[in-house]
Amino acid sequence: MIFTNKNVLITGGSTGIGLATAKAFINAGANVWITGRNADNLQKAAEEIKSPKLKTVVSDTSKLTEISILEKVISESEVKLDVLFLNAGIGVFSPIAQVTEEEFDAQFNTNVKGHFFTLQKLIPHLSDGASVLFTSSSVATAANLGTGVYSATKGALNKIAQVAANELAPRKIRVNIISPGPITTPGLASVLPPEAKEYLASVTALQRMGDPDEIAKTALFLASDAASYITGTEIKADGGYLNYALK
Ligand SMILES: NC(=O)c1ccc[n+]([C@@H]2O[C@H](COP(=O)([O-])OP(=O)(O)OC[C@H]3O[C@@H](n4cnc5c(N)ncnc54)[C@H](OP(=O)(O)O)[C@@H]3O)[C@@H](O)[C@H]2O)c1
Repeated sequence: MIFTNKNVLITGGSTGIGLATAKAFINAGANVWITGRNADNLQKAAEEIKSPKLKTVVSDTSKLTEISILEKVISESEVKLDVLFLNAGIGVFSPIAQVTEEEFDAQFNTNVKGHFFTLQKLIPHLSDGASVLFTSSSVATAANLGTGVYSATKGALNKIAQVAANELAPRKIRVNIISPGPITTPGLASVLPPEAKEYLASVTALQRMGDPDEIAKTALFLASDAASYITGTEIKADGGYLNYALK
């Protein structure tokens, strides 16, 4: 896929899926902006990618004031975005009986409110014909134990994406959802014990965890002309997680 001089913004681009996607777009010739809350993580990502085409922005997507900072950076860059990848996300897993209000608010503020208002603020900065991608999850449709809040955030995100696809279609902007299954990332490792990896691999048809690069490839496909007639839909890049679980 070729994205020479295309402008790509990835929220949550300093580690995991976002970082792998940033690398893939840079290798395909794009100018890429990545965001995150933590300046050190962004610095490490920049050192790893080592490209003048990469720019980093400290911006916490759960705070409207920081979304405005991001909007200002893009506005002052005087570019139109060809790809907006709304990928930042957090997960806290516990049974409904034990979820705290803080855990509920943190997940909804990051995974739902943050993406909604990032999209809203950046709509004027999208080029006509741009591609918007949301990172959802296979658990948006599954009903795994302990995922009451996280799954609800991803279900809400799917609906926002579908409505956005209809609202932005007059500008030929395509909006799609990527739902990863279990992917080996720092984010997943931080919330699950190591033995959970084996279990997660075992409930996919392919019997393995996914790699962030595999989600990056899905993102580049959806953002490319190869997906020119695809909008408002969800691609499950999950190793057959749901199909297998339903057997
Ligand atoms: N890994 C999986 O198995 C899996 C499966 C399905 C869906 N997902 C989804 O994939 C996306 C990426 O997750 P990942 O697994 O790659 O995790 P990750 O390695 O933890 O990456 C998350 C990225 O988001 C950033 N981030 C988190 N909260 C943020 C906030 N409030 N504002 C701005 N940036 C923020 C993180 O940087 P900072 O910490 O520095 O802010 C980091 O760059 C998430 O939406 C997640 O829900 C992951």
